[in-house]
Amino acid sequence: MTTKKIFIFGMIVFSHLLSFSQQKDPTEKKIDELLSKMTLDEKIGQMNQLTGLGLSDDMVSSIRGGKVGSILNEIDAKTVNKLQRIAVEETRLGIPLVFARDVIHGFKTIFPIPLGQAASWNPQVAENGARVAAIEASAAGIRWTFAPMIDVSRDPRWGRIAESCGEDPYLTSVIGAAMIKGFQGNDLSSQTSMAACAKHFAAYGASESGKDYNTTWIPELQLREVYFPPFEAAIKANAATFMCSFNDINGVPSSGSKFLNYDVLRKEWKYDGVLVSDWESIGQMIPHGFSADLKDAALIAANAYVDMDMMSFAYINYLKDLVNSGNVSEAIVDDAVRNILRLKFRLGLFDNPYTPEYDELPFYTDDALQKAKHAAIESAVLLKNDKNVLPLNGVKTVAVVGPLLDSQADQLGTWCFDGEPAHSVTPLTAIKKEYGKKYNIVAEKGLTYSRDKSAEGIKKAVEAAQKADVVVAFVGEESVLSGEARSRADISLPGAQGELISALKATGKPVVMVVMAGRPLTIGNEVSTADAVLFSFHGGIMAGPALADLIFGEAVPSGKLPVTIPRMVGQIPVYYAHKNTGRPANNIDLIDDIPVGALQTSIGFTSYHLDAGDKPLFPFGFGLSYATFDYSDVRLSKNTISGNETLTVECDVTNSGKIDAQEVVQLYIRDKVGSLVRPVRELKDFQKITLKSGETKTVKFELTNEQLAFWNADKVKRAEAGEFQVWVSTDSQSGTPVSFWYK
Ligand code: BGC
Repeated sequence: MTTKKIFIFGMIVFSHLLSFSQQKDPTEKKIDELLSKMTLDEKIGQMNQLTGLGLSDDMVSSIRGGKVGSILNEIDAKTVNKLQRIAVEETRLGIPLVFARDVIHGFKTIFPIPLGQAASWNPQVAENGARVAAIEASAAGIRWTFAPMIDVSRDPRWGRIAESCGEDPYLTSVIGAAMIKGFQGNDLSSQTSMAACAKHFAAYGASESGKDYNTTWIPELQLREVYFPPFEAAIKANAATFMCSFNDINGVPSSGSKFLNYDVLRKEWKYDGVLVSDWESIGQMIPHGFSADLKDAALIAANAYVDMDMMSFAYINYLKDLVNSGNVSEAIVDDAVRNILRLKFRLGLFDNPYTPEYDELPFYTDDALQKAKHAAIESAVLLKNDKNVLPLNGVKTVAVVGPLLDSQADQLGTWCFDGEPAHSVTPLTAIKKEYGKKYNIVAEKGLTYSRDKSAEGIKKAVEAAQKADVVVAFVGEESVLSGEARSRADISLPGAQGELISALKATGKPVVMVVMAGRPLTIGNEVSTADAVLFSFHGGIMAGPALADLIFGEAVPSGKLPVTIPRMVGQIPVYYAHKNTGRPANNIDLIDDIPVGALQTSIGFTSYHLDAGDKPLFPFGFGLSYATFDYSDVRLSKNTISGNETLTVECDVTNSGKIDAQEVVQLYIRDKVGSLVRPVRELKDFQKITLKSGETKTVKFELTNEQLAFWNADKVKRAEAGEFQVWVSTDSQSGTPVSFWYK
């Protein structure tokens, strides 16, 4: 072919490709057409999100005037439709509104808090929860939820750890992606789908001292290693929207961070969804000391590519002036509006703006309740079970006590605006109903709420215990003690619950402690005292039936901790993927073991706390079963891999117990020597498997160089040559590693 012919051929191919890509993306064409008709005012209106005020004059006139693009917290389908009708029929371009709400772990059928769902280590549990939430909330006209919250959280003082998937970037990525799949369904334009929102971008979980909204100072490489991966996974899972975080990172509030919102999110990750601010987070750049006034805040947020202003009224009041004066380019506004219109097209709102008004709302269906119960079962973590006290066996009279025994509201946990406590089935109700015929149940709450300090209450609980063969104590935190702005500096059991456990133990009866909480708690003393401990992060509407089945052996615990439980607050941050230090500690004893008069040099110079040792109370990934599991040696397909080669890692796991059960088999690696020091272990994969009593299964994992890679000293993500260790184990502290080499 001559050069000319090649050129002509190339042009033909190119023009075909061009017209193909244009045909392929009719939505982008529609967005451009619509955008070209919009005035600057109409564009800015789309960028404004307001909280619902029903059909108030203010709201109606804002919609009619094209001054609002989205409404949050309107939850009645009829009102939603009336407001939508104004947007669609009474505005010049008829652009529909999108209605949003925090539907975090259920709308009506409340599932375990997200930290609990993560404790299931079962993405299907998380997906089911989100699907049920979407079906219920979308029936009220809500098509956008502000979930999942995928902030890696390593500080249990922080109340919002309850909403998170815990401390690990990989587990958070998997559970977060499953939630996105559940919320968005197979087709975002279906009227039972909700747009998910990956929040809070970024590093909100690192708030200093676990105090909410607090500052963070995080080197870029650590952002990329620890805090960004769940957000990248969310984009892969097609999360339709993102939300800014409240905190500043290295002095820059997220709502004003061009680095986060443009350089990383748009340029590097090519994200084309909506980025919404958090509630008033644009305006809050004033108290942060980053913006002089609201106009300045609008300028900074717009130039940082925040698409939508949630409740700061910054864009609606100042953006037009800022564009007209040339301080914000109209191209930035256009990009934001494109993202917002794209969301509305993806949700099918231009074709189906109205929500069906059901006579009977699809709430609390049997299927939803069963899924919620199953989620609560899989979320509970058995931490201790001396002499196999659990499941209860060979007993006649069971004393059930404790402030969380019958608290319909508290078991729902935080962030469930629409949950109705009257629908919660408590442990007391479930135990009486399901097991009351077979066992003699003596109930006495003792303490009336978690912070109760009543000695009289303890006395009554002890009297109940004395009549029984075994005591089951439901302790923990009220729901209001975790969640947003619910940080605690002391994360022990509140009130007189510690005394309650000691007094129960003093009766000589076996004590089962069931903890229902929104975070890990420092319960070392109570764990030592109790004979068995079942930890259930607030388990939702069906927590009662789930816990009852676990206690009486109808179900087997299979949850694993998604977050480390510290011995003491002073250990925080304490997480499994820590660095080794130059002086690693190894099973250091506690302060009481130091002989009186010991010399300074007598107890070694390694990295630990004198009064807490070098270990947490329970490590990440830990959780017992009523069965026991044996792990064989780990087998590798090769000793050395290079380039894109895959390493196969195999291990035989045997259920050596007497009962069929599930086990979460965890794969960890360690990069022995790096251009930057690497964590002592990193979770890279896991499988939740079911094993019959006596059964053995070979669990197989594939490791790729992608999983060996990290953000290294050259600021690139790459696997470095050298020795790696790999564990297949039941938690983050056990197992025997095997080495391999990457070349
Ligand atoms: C929270 C967000 C939430 C928003 C809207 C804020 O206070 O930080 O997570 O989505 O409120 O309710």
